[in-house]
Amino acid sequence: MCQENIHTQFHRFVSLAEKEELLGQKGHVLWLYGLSGSGKSTIAAALERNLHEAGRFSIILDGDNFRHGLNFDLGFSDEDRSENIRRVAEVAKMLSDQGIIVIVSVITPKNALRTLARKIVGPSFRDVFIQASFETCAQRDPKGLYAKVAAGEIKQFTGKDSGFEEPSNPELQIDTETNSSVQAVAQLLKLLRGAGQNS
Ligand code: ADX
Repeated sequence: MCQENIHTQFHRFVSLAEKEELLGQKGHVLWLYGLSGSGKSTIAAALERNLHEAGRFSIILDGDNFRHGLNFDLGFSDEDRSENIRRVAEVAKMLSDQGIIVIVSVITPKNALRTLARKIVGPSFRDVFIQASFETCAQRDPKGLYAKVAAGEIKQFTGKDSGFEEPSNPELQIDTETNSSVQAVAQLLKLLRGAGQNS
């Protein structure tokens, strides 16, 4: 596609610093990734509640919700997952550039996809691996998907016939087999504080 005649608009009457001052916070992207059923959405919801009660403005970008709307045209091939991550990352960047704390909850199964997301978002990107074994996720099966996978009704399922690469060096790894969502939120708040968020 020809981008030659498209010019990014940088003219702003209100700067990011002014928006962050208005909100009393800094824009961040917390990118929570891991298997379906690993606990990403639960932790994202608990964190959003906690931040809200502390007077912080945040938003959850959830893979399932995106796939019902903006990304309804995408499936689960490698190409589609990559486009999914690209779009979620672009939206996350737009929002964090307004001073919002963005909590992303998408499987992001490959290291290359996490690298892509980090590249799009920039320095405010924090990567957080939400860890639980495939067996534990299958046992929890909050959406009934693992039962369908076992019955052969879902193809290209992450961790089954579509790969999940464990990260070698995540900024934060939360094992949800041993940590409660309260403990997970505490670790995420610590990560945010370490990244310059006032508590
Ligand atoms: S990603 O791989 O592109 O990052 P994303 O997080 O957007 O995935 O979507 C995953 C969600 O879609 C899962 O939580 C699950 O509810 C649903 N889903 C449906 N089919 C699949 C599949 N084949 N693999 C993984 N998740 C699937």
